[in-house]
Amino acid sequence: MIKAIITAVGGYVPDYILTNEELSTMVDTNDEWITSRTGIKERRILKGEGKGVSDMCVEAVKQILEKRKISAEEIDMIIVGTITGDYGFPSTSNVICDKIGAKNAWGYDLSAACSGFIYGLVTAAQFIQSGKYKKILVVGGDKMSSIIDYTDRSSCIIFGDGAGAVLVEPTEEDLGVQDFVMKADGAGRNYLCVRAGGSMMPATHQTVDDRLHFLHQEGQAVYKFAVNGMADVSAEILERNKLKGEDIQWLVPHQANKRIIDATAERVGVPEDKVMMNIEKYGNTTGGTIPLLLWDYEKKLKKGDNLIISAFGGGFTWGSIWLKWAY
Ligand code: UT7
Repeated sequence: MIKAIITAVGGYVPDYILTNEELSTMVDTNDEWITSRTGIKERRILKGEGKGVSDMCVEAVKQILEKRKISAEEIDMIIVGTITGDYGFPSTSNVICDKIGAKNAWGYDLSAACSGFIYGLVTAAQFIQSGKYKKILVVGGDKMSSIIDYTDRSSCIIFGDGAGAVLVEPTEEDLGVQDFVMKADGAGRNYLCVRAGGSMMPATHQTVDDRLHFLHQEGQAVYKFAVNGMADVSAEILERNKLKGEDIQWLVPHQANKRIIDATAERVGVPEDKVMMNIEKYGNTTGGTIPLLLWDYEKKLKKGDNLIISAFGGGFTWGSIWLKWAY
């Protein structure tokens, strides 16, 4: 039976560091509040005219091609989890294909906010397991600074820019994606969204004046859904596979708020030293958090390690994947 494994990881974060101290000069906030409420110390910002999320994704993908010593022409498909594509359309997948020279690939963007990467990973796994494709890039990234309102202290402190990617390939070994639980509930759509610019409310001078093209988040409401949702799916995937906390080498949780991560770890019985965490230096990069975690922790991972990858995001969208690391 064919299984889908991750065979390489790449990541990219921009150089510019936006610290809690600098944010304190922009809005009425302070390092103590941000650190204690979210665990975030700093985040990265992509500066430069004309730069889009694809510029970060391409850097992450180039690392993968180098590591695996393969050419872009060998890539079958590119799936991109993003909500800040370079354009409304065409897709950022198309842009990446062109920029790296992936002439034999097709692909698309997947809009699932903070769950974009895990939605993409399980989608790629199906194409691999079917036997149809051999090399699929799953990319997760966002230039959140392009939709953040830096006058809104309740949301601007959380988000940052960054992108990561993985290569998914087939194996006959019992490794890779073992199981997944994916969820969605569109009734949550108004709690975390960009209200204007879509077909329901196209851009006008008024929508710009009313700041409706920025991310809108009702933090407390989202927090309640996120803390329960991420813990629930993580517990569900363990239970139905008869796994216990001690069977898990790494919990790989979406990085939105350290308190949500801690609650999920506690619920599934995984100690802090087995929880991947980089929220303090990158904040919430939306589609980027999970591949950036894998990128940061790659050297610590061993073949056969059990990873539980969980996310919760706008939509609402959420889910959890049980994956056996392959190298
Ligand atoms: O990425 C996936 C989806 N997103 C999430 O999972 C995010 C979920 N939500 C959260 O992480 C939290 O709700 C936030 C970090 C966004 C906000 O934290 P909170 O503890 O829920 O704060 P709050 O909105 O309940 O506000 C508490 C107080 C308020 O003051 P009063 O009304 O009690 O006087 C806010 O005005 O904190 C105030 N406040 C701030 N104070 C200093 C809100 N933002 C700030 C700030 N600095 N940046």
